This record gives sequence, structure tokens and C-alpha cells, in this order.
Amino acid sequence: MDGDNSRWRPPSILLIPLLLCGGLIFYVDVFQIKSFSVTNSFKLPEPRFIGYSEKIDLNGFLVKTEGCRIPYMDPLDTSIKKYVSKPKQFVCNKNKPPLMEANLTYVYMLNNSLSSYEVKNISALKCCYSAFHRVEPSSKQGDNIVSYNKCVQFNESVKIEDDFIRVSCTYNKKEIYKDFFSFVPIKPRIKNFSSNPGSNEKLNVLVIGLDAVSRLNLHRQMPKTVNILKDIGAIELLGYNKVGDNTFPNLVPVLIGLSENELKKDCWHKKTDKFDDCKLIWKNYSTSGYATAFGEDSTWMGTFNYMKRGFKKQPTDYFWGPFNYVSEKQIGNAHDMNVHQCVGSRAVYQVLLDYITKFVKTMTQNQISYFGFFWGASLSHDYLNKPSLGDETYANFFTKLTESNMLNNTALIFMSDHGIRWGGIRTTYQGRIEERLPFVFIVMPKSYRDSYPQAFANINRNTKRLTTPFDLHETLKNLLKPHSLKRALINERINKRDGKERSYSLFEPIPSNRTCETAAISPHWCTCQTSASISINNSDIIDATKYVVKYLNKQLDGYAECAELTLAEIYDGRLHSADNKLKGESYSEDYTVVFRTVPGDGNFEATVRQYVSKKGKEKHFNVMGSVSRINLYGSQSLCMTDYHLKLYCYCIT
Ligand SMILES: *[C@@H]1O[C@H](CO)[C@@H](O)[C@H](O)[C@H]1NC(C)=O
Ligand SMILES: *[C@@H]1O[C@H](CO)[C@@H](O)[C@H](O)[C@H]1NC(C)=O
Ligand SMILES: *[C@@H]1O[C@H](CO)[C@@H](O)[C@H](O)[C@H]1NC(C)=O
Ligand SMILES: *[C@@H]1O[C@H](CO)[C@@H](O)[C@H](O)[C@H]1NC(C)=O
Ligand SMILES: *[C@@H]1O[C@H](CO)[C@@H](O)[C@H](O)[C@H]1NC(C)=O
Ligand SMILES: *[C@@H]1O[C@H](CO)[C@@H](O)[C@H](O)[C@H]1NC(C)=O
Ligand SMILES: *[C@@H]1O[C@H](CO)[C@@H](O)[C@H](O)[C@H]1NC(C)=O
Ligand SMILES: *[C@@H]1O[C@H](CO)[C@@H](O)[C@H](O)[C@H]1NC(C)=O
Ligand SMILES: *[C@@H]1O[C@H](CO)[C@@H](O)[C@H](O)[C@H]1NC(C)=O
Repeated sequence: MDGDNSRWRPPSILLIPLLLCGGLIFYVDVFQIKSFSVTNSFKLPEPRFIGYSEKIDLNGFLVKTEGCRIPYMDPLDTSIKKYVSKPKQFVCNKNKPPLMEANLTYVYMLNNSLSSYEVKNISALKCCYSAFHRVEPSSKQGDNIVSYNKCVQFNESVKIEDDFIRVSCTYNKKEIYKDFFSFVPIKPRIKNFSSNPGSNEKLNVLVIGLDAVSRLNLHRQMPKTVNILKDIGAIELLGYNKVGDNTFPNLVPVLIGLSENELKKDCWHKKTDKFDDCKLIWKNYSTSGYATAFGEDSTWMGTFNYMKRGFKKQPTDYFWGPFNYVSEKQIGNAHDMNVHQCVGSRAVYQVLLDYITKFVKTMTQNQISYFGFFWGASLSHDYLNKPSLGDETYANFFTKLTESNMLNNTALIFMSDHGIRWGGIRTTYQGRIEERLPFVFIVMPKSYRDSYPQAFANINRNTKRLTTPFDLHETLKNLLKPHSLKRALINERINKRDGKERSYSLFEPIPSNRTCETAAISPHWCTCQTSASISINNSDIIDATKYVVKYLNKQLDGYAECAELTLAEIYDGRLHSADNKLKGESYSEDYTVVFRTVPGDGNFEATVRQYVSKKGKEKHFNVMGSVSRINLYGSQSLCMTDYHLKLYCYCIT
């Protein structure tokens, strides 16, 4: 929870559990949270909002087309300011330095650290490393099993030819140090790729994700990173609208091009199925002669792991998740809310960025084309204000990649999946809109901008159009065949379009009459409509809210362990403009309501469509999309295993 948000402070229990991406819970001391409260002395760095000059032309709108208007919002709007504060820097391993460090191929001892480990007689220090690798899990196992080789002794340094190692040192027969390091050895499958002379027709693709950061929160929290990206020619999608609640339903469209429901029909029939049969975009890159990589931190709640079973076969040439899982499990520390902030003496997000650097460096040096997809949650998943702690590191990361010419032939996508999903900011109108508008930055290499001017002009124009994760998938398909960005080929595709497609590559013109409906964004997530606040005493708002409570109870029907919920308080109600409202005709309009139920003081947000028949005689309601839980549900739903229903169930057993 972020900042001071007294209204949403959970009941005064000592341990409060947290709502996660998808809904599992974890415990955290409530007093720890308080240490993040607002400090008035904090001054935000002067944000630089390039691209905002366009807002003037757009008259206060980020997107202003026939089909969609998204209002411009001030990142430091008065309604938001009170939730913005400087977070406390976390400390890894109580500031004890690591005893070892690694570069591209070696692990070596840091002599300066010996005193911190009270090593006086170096001959009595024994260190060894065990290489380890992922083991294919059975159908019943989750994707986090590894197997270790025997421990190999070494002295000051040793060359490593494996992906992952665990280092252990004993001094006077006592283990005094344990650490984990990851490397990027060239795999046999991709060895030959380097000799491919056609590689200049290929573009590397590097996707770097930062979980739960809205576009505006990136500007608030990471201004240095934003400036670097702008300096290297990044374009920023202003109207990128999420299509589902948490990480999974927003990344499946990017990686597979399907909605969560379509995925269930296509390749993930049961929650216990693994994802091997799904058409992940990296498979296409793999068969086209690219090296592929997929890596996440906080893997225990990873995209394909959280209450899910991951993969049987390793999905990509380089697959970092199992490394993160075991290292967090064995030497994770500075645990806060849902994440380990550190492994050993290092910040987890830094370890991920170091691995990405190694991957990119190795592939670039060996001239192997690659597709890399990396996702970081440890820095940003739980708190609105924590991303600022990583600003410097991310800014340096992008600067170094650029300065060492490693992005010369690479399309870089830096993105998030949604904004922060809980906490005080979610009680504000702006906070709710922001949550639906994650950031996406795209950097195309200069050679590409020059070779494909029309494609580049299109993507520039599309920054001010309504865009979705499905579009990113089409874009990744395009990047697989860069020549398809040629003017003639784009025009050929445009001619085949009827203007009603669900998804477009960002290199094609996105029609100005695109609506949330044609883009498959449910009304609950749609930021396009203009809406107005209405009194919480308005009878339609009350009826709509009562309908949602009834709907929630119906979802819980048959679960005797869950209490029946009763409406306690309505916090906020908004009416969205109804485009299809025609005098004398039947019409529908959408309300968004925010309310509290008892027992359990659950806070919810829902969008409800009211259908009104001709002449207004008959009315009925329908809940659009899913009902969002916007406060912590704690241990309240321990009895419930279904991760959707966990959001609603108050256990009475
Ligand atoms: C990595 O470290 C080893 C051991 O200290 C050293 O010999 C090697 O030159 C280093 N490699 C690079 C690329 O810095
Ligand atoms: C660290 O200490 C060892 C043993 O005293 C020595 O052999 C080695 O050269 C030292 N390394 C560095 C980088 O000073
Ligand atoms: C240092 O450790 C070695 C190996 O355990 C031992 O043989 C030696 O006696 C020790 N030296 C001192 C000064 O303790
Ligand atoms: C490490 O140093 C010891 C003592 O100098 C030596 O006997 C041993 O062979 C060395 N081990 C390796 C793996 O180099
Ligand atoms: C690499 O290329 C050689 C010659 O083209 C071929 O014989 C060999 O099978 C290839 N190796 C792999 C792993 O694809
Ligand atoms: C990607 O690969 C899938 C099979 O995994 C195939 O069905 C699809 O047509 C391919 N798409 C592209 C754009 O090559
Ligand atoms: C990358 O681009 C820079 C500037 O355009 C150029 O100086 C450099 O030689 C290029 N490096 C590589 C490895 O292509
Ligand atoms: C959008 O405009 C195009 C071209 O004018 C038209 O063909 C299409 O039907 C329109 N789409 C919608 C959803 O109105
Ligand atoms: C709603 O009604 C209550 C009780 O009648 C009243 O106290 C409150 O001020 C009203 N709120 C608004 C926003 O009109």
C-alpha cells in the first residue's frame, strides 16, 4: 500500500495479507507499511514530458479521435499528490558485501570483502561451485525444479561454462557464504546462427517489462529513465489500454495474440495444463533462426507460474526463471509484501538487468539474432512509489546498452502491463484511469527509421490512437519479417482491412474510428469514454451497486464457506457517456461504482451496464468484465482456492 491512505487501511490486525496479481496472499507487518508514509521534505525531480506538447494540439486529450477520447491528466494532479512520497531504500543482507562477483564468463573473489567474512587465514577458506540446470517437471509439478552437479573446488577465480551456478564457501568447516550467478553460454542450437550472412535483414527484439507501472507513474517515478529513452528516440504510446485485470490476461495477448478465454479454448484447457502447446511468439522467432530468451524475477508469482504450472519443455533457448526461483528461495532477503527485494547482497531487479546485459552482449558479440522477453516485478509490483528506487539503475542500463552500440540493430520495447492495482490512489478517479493505461516505449534503430519511413510515420501517429496488447502481438509478428514494413506491403495489407479488425500492427495505420468495442477492450477497462461523477445518492447508482453485490453473491453460490455479502457504503459513482443513446429508442449506459461490503470490509469497483427499454419502461443491469477488488483481502479468503473467487469470498469457516 502506498502513502498515507487512511480510508483504505485494513482492520487493525497485525498481519495483513495482500492481494496479488491474480489473488494469492502473503503476510506483512502493518507497521512496516507505515514506514512508507508521506514525508513532506521529498521533492520530485522535475519531470520532462516530451510528447506532451502534442496535448495542446489535442486540446487536453491524449487520444482524440472519432472512436475514442482519452483525457490528458496531470501526473501530479492535486488528487494524486498526496499518494506520492519518497520510499525508503531497502538494505540487502544488512549491507554485508558479496564475497564473489561474476563477469561474462568468470566468477571471482573480491579480496576486499574477506574482512567482512572474518577470513584471516585464506588457506582455510574453501570455495566450490555447483552448476545446476532446470529439470523437466512432471505434469503435476510446477516449473521450478533444478538439479545440481557436484561441487567443484576453486581458488581466486574460475571460468564458468554453464548457465547457472551456486557458490558455497566454508571457513573452518562452517559455511560462511552462499551465492548464485547466471551466465549466457552459447547453446549448440544457436551456434550456427552466427554464420548467417542474411542477418542484416533481421532485427533483434528486446522486450523489457516492469510490472504494474502506469504511464503517468513511470513519469512520476522514473524521470531519468524516461529522459534517456526520449534521448535515444523512443516513441511513447499514449493510448495503450489494458484488456484484463492483472499480468496474465495482459501478457497473453502480447505473447500469443489471444484473450485469456480464447487461450482456454486453444491450448490451456485446464488450470493444471502447462503452456507448451500455446503458440507463443518466441516459437516463431526460434524457427526463423533467432536465439530466444525468457526471464522473470519474483518467479514464484511469474506470468506462467502463479497458481499455474509453467512449461514442461524449456520454452526458450535461455530460460532464467528457475535460476531466479531457487536463488530467491535460498538466499532471498529483505522480503516486503509479495517480493524478495534482494538475493544475497544484490537487489533482485539489478540481478535481472545484469543477466539481460549478459544476454544482449553475448548475442551481439557473436552476431546472433535474438528475441528476448524479460519481466521484472520485484521493484514495482507492490508499491506506487517504489519504482523511483530503480530509476538510476534503469537509466544507466539503457544508457550503457546504447553507448556500447548494442541497440544498433534492435527494436527495444520497454513496457508494463497495468498500473498499481490497489491502495489509496485507486480511490481517485485519476488513479483508476491510470491503472488501465500502462506505459509502453518503443525504440527503433536509426537504420530502420530511414529504411521504412512510412512504417515509422505510422507508429508515430499511432502513439495518439487507442492501442492494446493485441496490437503489440501484431507488431512482434511484423518485426519478425522486417521487409514486411515496406510501403507496398503495408499498403497491400491496408487494402485487405475492413476497419473492424481487433488488432493492428503499430506499423500500420490504426483507424481513427477505432473504439474500445472494436479493439476488444471491455467497458470496465475502457478509458475512452468521457464520464461524469454523479451523486452516490442517485437511485440508479444505488440500484447498480446493489446489483453488483447480488452478482458477487451469485458467484459465491454453492460455497457454504463464504459469507453472504451486504452493501455497507457507496464511495463513488460515475456515468459514462452513452454514444448509442437515442431519444425514444432503447439504449444502454455504463456506470462505474466503488463500494464496500460487509462482513470483511471488501472494497470493490465495478462497471455495470444498464439497459433501458424504449420509453424507459424496463431496466436491467449487467456487470461488464470482472469486478475489481481494490483493497487487501487478507487472510479472509484462505478457505477459497479458486483465484477469481478469492477476491470476493469472506471465509466463515
Ligand atoms: C573476468 O574476470 C576474470 C577473473 O577475474 C578475468 O580474468 C577476465 O579477464 C574477466 N573478463 C572480462 C571480460 O572482464
Ligand atoms: C586476492 O588474493 C589472492 C590471495 O591472496 C591473490 O592471489 C590475488 O591475486 C588477489 N586478487 C586481487 C585481485 O587482488
Ligand atoms: C591456515 O589454514 C591452513 C589450512 O586449514 C592451516 O594448515 C594453517 O595452519 C592455518 N594457518 C594459521 C596461521 O592458522
Ligand atoms: C588452490 O590452491 C591450493 C593451495 O595453493 C592448491 O593446492 C590447489 O590446487 C588450488 N586449487 C585449484 C582448483 O586451483
Ligand atoms: C551447423 O551447420 C553445419 C553445416 O552447415 C551442419 O552440418 C550442422 O548440423 C549444424 N549444426 C546445428 C546444431 O544445427
Ligand atoms: C507462428 O507460429 C505458429 C505455430 O506456433 C503458426 O501457427 C503461426 O502461423 C506463426 N505466425 C507467424 C506470423 O509466422
Ligand atoms: C552502431 O552505430 C554507431 C552509430 O551509428 C556506429 O558508430 C557503430 O559503428 C555501430 N556499431 C556497430 C557494432 O554496428
Ligand atoms: C471505420 O471506418 C472505415 C473506413 O471509413 C469503415 O470501413 C469502417 O466500417 C468503420 N468502422 C467502424 C467500426 O465504424
Ligand atoms: C447522501 O444522502 C445522505 C443522507 O441523506 C447525506 O447525508 C449526504 O450528504 C448525501 N450525499 C451526497 C453526496 O449527496
